[in-house]
Amino acid sequence: MSKFNLYNTEMEKKVEVLVCYGTLCHLMGGSDLQLLGELLPLDLQGKVDLKGAPCLNFCNEVDNGKPPFAVVNGRKIEQATVKKLIQEIRVELEKK
Ligand code: FES
Repeated sequence: MSKFNLYNTEMEKKVEVLVCYGTLCHLMGGSDLQLLGELLPLDLQGKVDLKGAPCLNFCNEVDNGKPPFAVVNGRKIEQATVKKLIQEIRVELEKK
């Protein structure tokens, strides 16, 4: 792999954020999470692959924590808020 290809691969990596749009998460504050894309700080724009999903099935087990739920690069985030997800996105970007 050339330096150019390696550089391009690293530049294209985005933090994957999956927000639960299920009913329970929605009622427990998850509706605010639908605004995450619009509320991303300028330095994070273009660095996040944001998707919504129906119930992620975390709400079916008490041990999973409290809704609303999201997943950031495969890590479950409970009691998710826009602020918390932005912090988690920054944590993921620092790992790269
Ligand atoms: S409604 Fe969000 S995990 Fe079930």
